[in-house]
Amino acid sequence: MSQQEQWSSKLGFIFATAGTAIGLGAIWKFPYIAGTSGGGAFFLLFLLFTLFIGLPLLIGEFVLGRTTGKEAVSTYKELAPKTLWPITGWIGVVACFLILSFYSVIGGWSLLYIFETITGQMSQLSVEQLSSKFSELIANPWRAIGAQALFMIMTIYVISKGVQAGIERASKIMMPALLILLLIIAIRSLTLEGASEGIQFLLKPEWSNISSDTVLFALGQAFFSLSLGVSVMVTYSSYVSKSQNLPLTASVIGIMNILVALLAGLIIFPGVFTFGLEPSEGPALIFVVLPTIFNQMPLGQVFMFAFFLLFFFAALTSAFSLLEIIVATFSKGKPKKRQKLSWNIGLIILFVGVPSALSYGILADVQLFGRTFFDLLDYLTSNILLPLGALLVALFISWKVPKERLLNEMKQGAHIGNRFFAIWYLLVKFLIPLAILIIFLDVLGGFSFFF
Ligand code: TRP
Repeated sequence: MSQQEQWSSKLGFIFATAGTAIGLGAIWKFPYIAGTSGGGAFFLLFLLFTLFIGLPLLIGEFVLGRTTGKEAVSTYKELAPKTLWPITGWIGVVACFLILSFYSVIGGWSLLYIFETITGQMSQLSVEQLSSKFSELIANPWRAIGAQALFMIMTIYVISKGVQAGIERASKIMMPALLILLLIIAIRSLTLEGASEGIQFLLKPEWSNISSDTVLFALGQAFFSLSLGVSVMVTYSSYVSKSQNLPLTASVIGIMNILVALLAGLIIFPGVFTFGLEPSEGPALIFVVLPTIFNQMPLGQVFMFAFFLLFFFAALTSAFSLLEIIVATFSKGKPKKRQKLSWNIGLIILFVGVPSALSYGILADVQLFGRTFFDLLDYLTSNILLPLGALLVALFISWKVPKERLLNEMKQGAHIGNRFFAIWYLLVKFLIPLAILIIFLDVLGGFSFFF
């Protein structure tokens, strides 16, 4: 979408931002990270961080973008001229670049699974067979890179043409369809034998499972799944009309996001315990558990196809935002450059992402700082760049932008009381920066920096 355009309607903005937020983060990453880092305790932390850190920041990024009507880097430049604050926007650009390089790997996997379902390769397989099928599929270097490339090319094509509007329209059908489908699958999953064990794993906090790293992971997950800390939402809300209710829109997105993550967890963990898998299976989790559940449902193959299609769609709408932010930053004021920039940047991202695609195959044993390329990029972005970006955004909003301006902007289109504003302001000014700093320092301490 170019600078001059506006979202077509209030609902259009909600769907576009929900499309950005709801994606692999809630459906694929949440259950796998919850499985590897603490189950119920992780979920509770994720919930608290989403409500008390993510949501206020989301409102903050919305307010920032709408008040200037400019993309992120220009927003910081306008509000704090001749300072270093625009670096906050640049951190976001770098983070989006790196995230898309590995996000596209999983986007590629979703395409592989659509193909496997259509060609009937997955029906009747046992859980062991599905597990080895997954490893085989993603370990093949050409297939992994080919699928990733296909996913990237679709993303680039849409951004280069600036035809997101059409996609947003499709979102209006696809997103509710995804929600309904998740509900149906959850019902099946919750009637499996191991359901109660699965529910307990997800919802019952065992505090002994918690380490400083878990807390940071939960914080990173809250930011990642709301697309926060990289100023995506600043740019998106620069296209929004003054009659949009920003706090309400943010709440709708936050709650939908929690709901999708919760549903994904309620689908996955009953399956894990019923089929004798480990919750800590890792990134494979959803790709092994879900087909096993589908194979035990009437019309299972139809559901499987529908699921992977909607999963792919959710990933694609999130990928758009990642590329859009980078392209918007470089093409501002020069819409003609858009096409060329999209292809150039997109292809570089694909190139940078190749080692991540190979991290589950021939590069599985190549480790940096004890992690594969894929894991390293994920850790660096979700757990370091996003919290850092979020910290800077919070400080910028509350210490740099005049309070009056924030209040006036937030009040446009929304009937909010002064008390609501005051609480929000306190959270953004003190509590959120402090919480992020403490979590950071705690982990750095865990890495024994201080000893
Ligand atoms: N939130 C998306 C998801 O959960 C991913 C995403 C899109 C993102 N844009 C982002 C994450 C910006 C961090 C920052 O799948």
